[in-house]
Amino acid sequence: MSSENPVSKFDSLLTPLIRLSRNWVSRAGVFIVTAVTVCFIFLLPTMFSGSVSHPYLGILSFVVLPGIFLFGLLLIPAGLYLDRRRGGPQVLEPGERTWSHPMLRQLVGFIGVATVINIVIFSQLTYRAVHFMDSTSFCGGACHQVMSPEFASYQNSPHSRVDCVQCHIGPGAAWEVKAKISGIRQVFKVIFNTYSRPTPAPVHDLRPARDTCEGCHWPQKFGTDRVRVISKFAEDETNSVTRSVLLMRIGGGHVRKGIHGAHLENGVTIRYRPADDKRQNIPWVERTKAGEAPTVYLGKDVKEEDVKKFELREMDCVDCHNRPTHTYDLPDAGIDRALADGRMNAELPFAKKAALEIVKKEYKQGADKEVSAAFVDFYRSKYPDIFAKQKASIEASAENLRAIYARNIFPDMKVTWGTYPNNIGHMDFPGCFRCHDDDHKAASGKTIAQDCSACHELLATDEKEPKVLADFGYVNK
Ligand code: HEC
Ligand code: HEC
Ligand code: HEC
Ligand code: HEC
Ligand code: HEC
Repeated sequence: MSSENPVSKFDSLLTPLIRLSRNWVSRAGVFIVTAVTVCFIFLLPTMFSGSVSHPYLGILSFVVLPGIFLFGLLLIPAGLYLDRRRGGPQVLEPGERTWSHPMLRQLVGFIGVATVINIVIFSQLTYRAVHFMDSTSFCGGACHQVMSPEFASYQNSPHSRVDCVQCHIGPGAAWEVKAKISGIRQVFKVIFNTYSRPTPAPVHDLRPARDTCEGCHWPQKFGTDRVRVISKFAEDETNSVTRSVLLMRIGGGHVRKGIHGAHLENGVTIRYRPADDKRQNIPWVERTKAGEAPTVYLGKDVKEEDVKKFELREMDCVDCHNRPTHTYDLPDAGIDRALADGRMNAELPFAKKAALEIVKKEYKQGADKEVSAAFVDFYRSKYPDIFAKQKASIEASAENLRAIYARNIFPDMKVTWGTYPNNIGHMDFPGCFRCHDDDHKAASGKTIAQDCSACHELLATDEKEPKVLADFGYVNK
């Protein structure tokens, strides 16, 4: 065999391949590996750009593809093994099994080079797979139906630029592994269609919020009071508006006790035992402060020995902020906010009343267009003059009303108005008053305060033209 002959040089490159695929199982393996390598080359641009626009494309590229690749690789030795057991042709003929024989050297060289290439391809694909499974596109989009309520609320929240994993997994390898294992369990639930509807909350194995939230917000930081203006619209012809103005005592660990300081100050720990799965009924609360004896507060007619069986939980951010990003509306508040910020036109007669009636009706999954159609129809039939003049504004309001509905109602997942209670506040859900109800008493007779101004100064309550806003130069319109 002369090395000057180009044909035989090509031959000598191919011979190991031919030798390795003398049976159809190994041949299939070689074929699969080659095909995946070609796909991989086409995928390179996507991998360099770092993002996959469609979750299914991502699953295909980074989850299915590495699996097929590995399968193909394993087929090659499997075929050789089967062949050998059947007494078929050997990779190396007896005479070739010595280092001085060029066939053995070619084969070893070929396998060496192929292994390096395979390691590069496989490690890139799996690295990408892990990365991709941490992306918001995968978490929110891949199991489309299951995650649709959480994804929709997330996209419309102050955290819509924070990746799911930053709250759900946080830094560190241990939690990453834990999350992947629980993720696999969830994938099976989706495949076998045995997942709960709605997705249960609270999430019992959520990473303690102080490891996640505090990466971006830390309790010492919230020091100042914050003014909140809440606008409400009546169901009359002019949608007459009233406003409440609250000075929230946000507080913080160092600056001022306030809301955050009271529960999260250094050295203070508050623990509680909820009597129900949603943590809405709290019969037992304990506050400990370094250097002081613990204070236990018991709800009305509660005996300490009766509550021992309930979960014991240390209070952190999500006991109040349980909806920091998956924030759902109630119809009234959702529409009020849209009217207040101009997504819906508050000058349209009976806009609030009509909108409220429309969104409270039930529509089938995916039929949210009926919501906007009903709102447009209301004006077309009842106020044709206004409709003619303000068609664009009515249609825009209708579209925003539809969006409110679509963000909150998911018949497939059995999520509707009020499915997920929000623990901030005390008007729509028990919230702060789960503990601050003046009924939780310590042995000394001390209660967990319900004093209105401990949490906020009420500068105005449902007033037409609050003086404090006029003083601020706020134009009431
Ligand atoms: C700002 C932090 C944050 C981000 C970002 C975030 N979540 Fe959550 N999520 C939470 C918290 C906190 C809970 C727990 C609520 C509870 O225990 O009541 C939760 C709960 C959930 C639940 C359980 C059902 C429910 O509504 O309580 C699912 C499912 C979920 N998140 C999915 C996602 C997905 C998918 C994304 C990304 C698209 C995401 N989350 C982004 C904080 C976050
Ligand atoms: C990766 C950073 C990051 C993480 C992690 C994070 N947040 Fe935030 N958070 C933000 C940003 C950014 C904003 C928006 C700030 C703004 O709009 O001024 C925000 C806003 C908020 C707000 C104010 C919302 C409002 O209406 O003004 C609250 C409350 C909040 N986060 C709570 C939490 C809680 C609770 C967690 C943990 C479950 C958490 N955040 C985790 C970055 C983060
Ligand atoms: C006892 C309940 C409670 C706990 C615990 C709690 N918060 Fe808050 N937080 C509130 C309330 C109430 C507000 C004011 C909400 C409002 O103005 O509507 C608030 C406001 C905030 C804001 C907005 C601050 C601003 O100045 O606008 C952020 C950010 C925040 N919390 C993050 C956190 C983080 C992170 C944790 C955990 C370290 C946490 N909170 C723990 C009740 C709590
Ligand atoms: C799990 C029970 C629990 C929940 C829920 C809870 N708190 Fe508290 N809160 C306590 C305890 C316990 C204390 C400390 C009482 C004491 O001084 O011994 C406290 C103290 C406070 C204080 C200080 C009161 C004072 O007089 O100094 C404020 C302000 C406060 N909480 C605000 C809130 C707000 C706002 C919410 C809802 C977002 C809330 N808390 C939810 C248990 C709770
Ligand atoms: C333990 C803390 C706490 C106590 C005590 C408390 N509140 Fe509140 N309240 C809140 C929080 C937190 C909110 C803000 C909710 C939000 O962010 O929308 C709120 C909101 C409100 C609002 C505006 C909500 C709306 O939708 O109109 C009113 C009005 C109000 N409180 C009245 C009172 C009155 C009256 C008392 C005294 C009986 C009281 N609160 C006691 C924590 C408290």
